Amino acid sequence: MSQKIELTIDGREISAVPGQTILSAAEEAGVYIPRLCHLKGLTPHGSCRICTVLVNGRPQSACTQPVAPGMLVENDTPKVNGLRRNLLDMLFVEGNHFCMFCEKSGNCELQALAYRFGITAPKYPYMFPQRTLDASHPDILIERNRCILCGRCVRASQELDGKHAFDFIGRGAHKRLHVNAEARLADTDAAVEDRAVAACPVGSLLRKRVGYALPVGRRAYDHQPIGSEISAAAPQG
Ligand code: SF4
Ligand code: FES
Repeated sequence: MSQKIELTIDGREISAVPGQTILSAAEEAGVYIPRLCHLKGLTPHGSCRICTVLVNGRPQSACTQPVAPGMLVENDTPKVNGLRRNLLDMLFVEGNHFCMFCEKSGNCELQALAYRFGITAPKYPYMFPQRTLDASHPDILIERNRCILCGRCVRASQELDGKHAFDFIGRGAHKRLHVNAEARLADTDAAVEDRAVAACPVGSLLRKRVGYALPVGRRAYDHQPIGSEISAAAPQG
């Protein structure tokens, strides 16, 4: 029988197993911790920091931090949500996100988080970066204007598809999603069924010819905020 670890999230006691991350333990207990770069089934990356929680008063990324006995975790508090709002704001201004025209609208995790946190317009100035688009592949489009550099496609390609179709080049503000070819996605072994394509949380990696397939009202986040399915599974009482 595995040893249990007790910790507290927003005043609620939960149990976890050794080695489990805060995010995973919280999710099992029906507590939603917002995330973007994290996707179940991929190695945690800890890059977007949207899952930041306070652990005994100190910021930690919940997707990479293992649980420890007696941890006091703050998650859904004005202070922590304020930090997340700032990060989301920055993601919006650092790219060119045309939500109203985006095929992923209504199914986009970045947009859904903005709705969840009540962001209608970013407070920071837009940077309007120059980004390229790669439409060379017959079935897949890379729209780098919307890429948030979460790395989900990079890890999914390696870990789930057994390929190496995507990677990053450059540093800081010049960091970009690149493909494992001289220049074009069409020259890689990427295929439309790859898990990497479906792993993109925003409208950056898209399957061609399926845009706007779901009408407004039937899209993933039309009725309930992102994360509702996790909190709905919380034990009552
Ligand atoms: S293309 Fe999508 S999955 Fe890949 S790094 Fe950019 S936002 Fe993340
Ligand atoms: S979800 Fe944890 S750092 Fe991105």
